[in-house]
Amino acid sequence: MSKTTVCNGTKIIRFTGEVFDAVSYVIVEDNDALIFDAADSNKMISYLNSSNIKNITLFLTHEHFDHIFMADKLRNMFNCNVISSSECSSRMQSSKGNLSSIADVLISMNTHSEVSGMVTGFSVSAADETFDGKCTFEWHKHIIECHCLGGHSAGSACYVLDESILFSGDDLLPIPVITRFPGGSTKKFRNEDIPLFESLKNNISLVFPGHGQPGNPEDMLKINITPDKFRQ
Ligand SMILES: [Fe+2]
Repeated sequence: MSKTTVCNGTKIIRFTGEVFDAVSYVIVEDNDALIFDAADSNKMISYLNSSNIKNITLFLTHEHFDHIFMADKLRNMFNCNVISSSECSSRMQSSKGNLSSIADVLISMNTHSEVSGMVTGFSVSAADETFDGKCTFEWHKHIIECHCLGGHSAGSACYVLDESILFSGDDLLPIPVITRFPGGSTKKFRNEDIPLFESLKNNISLVFPGHGQPGNPEDMLKINITPDKFRQ
């Protein structure tokens, strides 16, 4: 499934995974694509092929299997430069670190139905470029500001495009963020991630989350200022 949103003049195409419901966001300019996350979307691959894409810059929001699933496929098919936090890069190289080794259990919990054999543990090659803390990249005329996070997973990061569009991964969602997966931290989510999102929110026109529909930061923050005892 794909859907297009035009935000501050930038056309953002949203592809939802076919098995998992993680989302990839694609921006195309002059046969180059800027992509946030590599969800399991064959429709995205078809779109990139039909758009005659030559070069891809792929930013990963975190190491979980549903967000990195197509990363190596994109590298095999296109000239693709993968960028992530250092921690994400190191964790996605093992099935334990990217949680694909326990994917069936997580999907069963999420869907309240027993799933087995849906995902075989897999690994993804290291990122081509990594960052720590905060940094910026340029792509065509756009500026991407990267912020490392630590709530949802140890390798999480969010990306602010042109100071006004937030790609938040699984650290800010239209539902309560899960902070209790291995490597996640409820404390960091409360003490570091939420204050960062609060500081960004006035400049952000729209949040494009790792799952679900785009929305405004105020609404997603309201849902996520949840007492810790209710947090998964
Ligand atoms: Fe995740």
